[in-house]
Amino acid sequence: MGHRSWMRSQGFTPEVFDGRPVIGIATTWSELAPCNVHLHRVAESVKRGVWQAGGFPLEFPTMALGETLLRPTAMLYRNLLAMEAEELFRANPLDGVVLLSGCDKTTPGLLMAAASVDLPAIMVTGGPKLNGKYQGADVGSGTAVWRWEEDLVAGRMTQEECFFAEACMSRSDGHCMTMGTASTMASMAEALGMQLPYSAAWPAVDARRYETAQRAGQVIVDLVTSDLTPSKIMTRQAFENAIRVNAAIGGSTNAVIHLLALAGRLGVPLTLDDFDALAADVPTLVNLQPSGKYLMEDFCYAGGLPAVMRELGDLLHAGAITVTGRTVAENVAEAPCWNRDVIHALDDPFQPAGTGTAVLRGNLAPDGAVLKQSAASPHLLKHRGRALVFDSPEAYHAVVADPDLDADEDTVLVVRYCGPKGYPGMPEVSNVPLPKKLLQRGVRDMVRICDGRMSGTAYGTVVLHVAPEAAAGGPLALVRTGDWITLDVPSRTLTLEVSPEELARRGNEWTPPPPVAARGWTRLYTDHVLQADTGVDLDFLVGASGHDIPRDSH
Ligand code: FES
Repeated sequence: MGHRSWMRSQGFTPEVFDGRPVIGIATTWSELAPCNVHLHRVAESVKRGVWQAGGFPLEFPTMALGETLLRPTAMLYRNLLAMEAEELFRANPLDGVVLLSGCDKTTPGLLMAAASVDLPAIMVTGGPKLNGKYQGADVGSGTAVWRWEEDLVAGRMTQEECFFAEACMSRSDGHCMTMGTASTMASMAEALGMQLPYSAAWPAVDARRYETAQRAGQVIVDLVTSDLTPSKIMTRQAFENAIRVNAAIGGSTNAVIHLLALAGRLGVPLTLDDFDALAADVPTLVNLQPSGKYLMEDFCYAGGLPAVMRELGDLLHAGAITVTGRTVAENVAEAPCWNRDVIHALDDPFQPAGTGTAVLRGNLAPDGAVLKQSAASPHLLKHRGRALVFDSPEAYHAVVADPDLDADEDTVLVVRYCGPKGYPGMPEVSNVPLPKKLLQRGVRDMVRICDGRMSGTAYGTVVLHVAPEAAAGGPLALVRTGDWITLDVPSRTLTLEVSPEELARRGNEWTPPPPVAARGWTRLYTDHVLQADTGVDLDFLVGASGHDIPRDSH
């Protein structure tokens, strides 16, 4: 009676408490997260579907992580969202949850929470913005910003033109409409089987986005009835499918970190090397920025992710089960492709197999590093150059415009202390802009090495996620300006040409940086965060505890 009475303050009729499935709708809506600002309307569509199927929907807020405003980086809070949502899913009397996400970290954060609780769950991402339009051409969010910043520095664009262009880029609700991290993670949720077919690509303002959300509301009630939980859907086979789909769509390197963390929650064995090995025979089929030309709206009209998954055919585990209750193969059997310039055929790919994410190792990255080949310059994939070392992106930015900076196009820019512990939160700073004097000379790319991440919308020959990071005492901390570094992507190596004896000597002289925080979340995070090669989860959050409240807390 107590539970009902308090809930009836919202005006519910008594029969909704008759034992029907209670469906939580976890929303990451916030005006501080502009990519997610329409999710309260998406939630209304989900509620329609839940009521329609005989469930009882209740919407509740979870942490909204807006990529563009949060300092020092939204990634610092992905695990906090996952922890908060996990506890809310478990502590409230819910039978199933609908996960409403959009901006980059909200999708993996909610999936990680659902995995650790293992309640029936379905994801509904908010969808991409409409294509940006500027001066008669399509412009992609994120990707265009990097280019315009370079154009502004090089004097090819005025500040007034930038003000005008930025509004042209963001002309509707939705997340970034390049194949950046948000679009990639929405696609990963769909490839894993955790959201309905076509969900990743419907533009945020498309009526079918809302129709799909209503359908998801119906489906979650079925999932509760059939007890089809996330651990039954997100199996090793599902992860292998997702990794291959990520290669086919030219997806973000951030997917590597998020999928590793998600697998860790589920106890699915997955390693960094799986990403290279599984993607090796998968060509890039999708011609989307930042690797290609088109944007998510075009991807939607061309057939979306089901068209890609159908094209991949035997490269996927056809029998993997999804939230529809059907298999991957059944979901995509009839999926048409309407534009072969956007979604290429397997026998006529956009980029050949082996051009996806490469996993590098060597004395500079004993636990691995990654490089997105499709976003890199082919002539730099085998490169030897002298290191120019900076202990923070800020230190580099302070001299980037210096005409006397001792750098040329062969220099290898090393920017370190940007990892999970070091910055903290492993921000997307690895693709530092090129030195101004080189930009003005027409240089468009240089090798950069960093223990941070790179935005999924960015491009360049950038070695990312170096593990262990400098702040954890990785060899990256021991590089000195003037050292020779060899990058050899075809042989998957990253070599600092310094003898083991000299490295040992430098290691003895190295002292760890002081803690970045004395208290609070950042202290908890830096004390417990794992390295990039295992997904940057907190050590005590790895794994699952089910949806029962632990007995000793009753
Ligand atoms: Fe939110 Fe790009 S800033 S998805």
